[in-house]
Amino acid sequence: MEKDIYILAIESSCDETAAAVVKNGREVLSNVISSQIELHKLYGGVVPEIASRKHIEKINQVIQEALDTAQMTLEDLDAIGVTYGPGLVGALLVGVAEAKAISYAKGLPLVGVHHIEGHISANYIENKDLEPPFLCLVVSGGHTHLVMVKDYGVYEILGRTHDDAAGEAFDKVARAIGLGYPGGPKIDALSREGNPDAIFFPRARIGDSPYDFSFSGVKSAVLNYLNGCQMKGEEIDRADVAASFQKAVCEVLVEHTMRAAKDFGIGKVALAGGVASNSTLRAGMEEACRRRRLDFYRPSPLLCTDNAAMIGAAAYYEYQKGVRHGLDLNAVPNLKLGSGQ
Ligand code: KG4
Ligand code: ZN
Repeated sequence: MEKDIYILAIESSCDETAAAVVKNGREVLSNVISSQIELHKLYGGVVPEIASRKHIEKINQVIQEALDTAQMTLEDLDAIGVTYGPGLVGALLVGVAEAKAISYAKGLPLVGVHHIEGHISANYIENKDLEPPFLCLVVSGGHTHLVMVKDYGVYEILGRTHDDAAGEAFDKVARAIGLGYPGGPKIDALSREGNPDAIFFPRARIGDSPYDFSFSGVKSAVLNYLNGCQMKGEEIDRADVAASFQKAVCEVLVEHTMRAAKDFGIGKVALAGGVASNSTLRAGMEEACRRRRLDFYRPSPLLCTDNAAMIGAAAYYEYQKGVRHGLDLNAVPNLKLGSGQ
């Protein structure tokens, strides 16, 4: 019987200050998230300087709560996992500095984690049987990647967005129809009252890269539609706009994922990232997988958006591979997936 590994994980790449204790990569003993959404709402988006300050204010409290909930102290841990990129540099630095301080003070191994690897690893938490290889569509506020997970920590990016990330498009369209920040969940909710076939918004095709994405076209089409209605004095049905936009985005996401699954002969498909909690995307991907007899995995909504449990899951597999970072670990705002920078 191998020894149990307990990891304290820290996440502060954007606007959530989060800490979790995870056992053996898949069992979450605590998952504390302090969200700054209410603060940033006032500005219609995340203000980096405010995010960093708030992380500094909250981080010790969040870590203490994560340890208390797990009924552990720093002495019981085997390692510290922390997101070191990509993200807002000032925000990342708060988590990285904290993790280094604990690592130094307690002599604990330090494992830096790529934020997207964290999102992908969220799938391991509730699906105890899930193992690579599988295909994962990562859709968040900053990233839209179609990733082949070849092994734990071994990734090949098959497709990516050429412009806006999927979540970014949701947030921008939400702002245009007056829904406020963060737009994704609000569009998702309003869509339930609208007709997804009311307005046809274009689905972008990228010439020679069948797995790539582009969302700036559909976003502009929505803005043009709204302007056109205003100029003609026509009333706008916001629920129809939301539902039609959501359908346009989700259809492309599902279609490209299914094409890659077929081309690469892969039998397992997973979702990850904030947009993975979108109801139309979840239902669409589930149905497409069912028809093709593919196994479908997705984290619960709480594990889709930023959290530290997913960082703990990713850190565990990196730790098992022998990855250790030194006290010179720095925040890398544009860290590439699988670069081991
Ligand atoms: O993964 P995440 O929490 O942070 C990043 O790493 O970016 O993703 C946040 C993004 C935001 O753009 C938010 O609007 C979007 O995920 N989002 C959603 C939903 N919930 C969150 N988008 C569509 N439908 C949702 N239900
Ligand atoms: Zn994220």
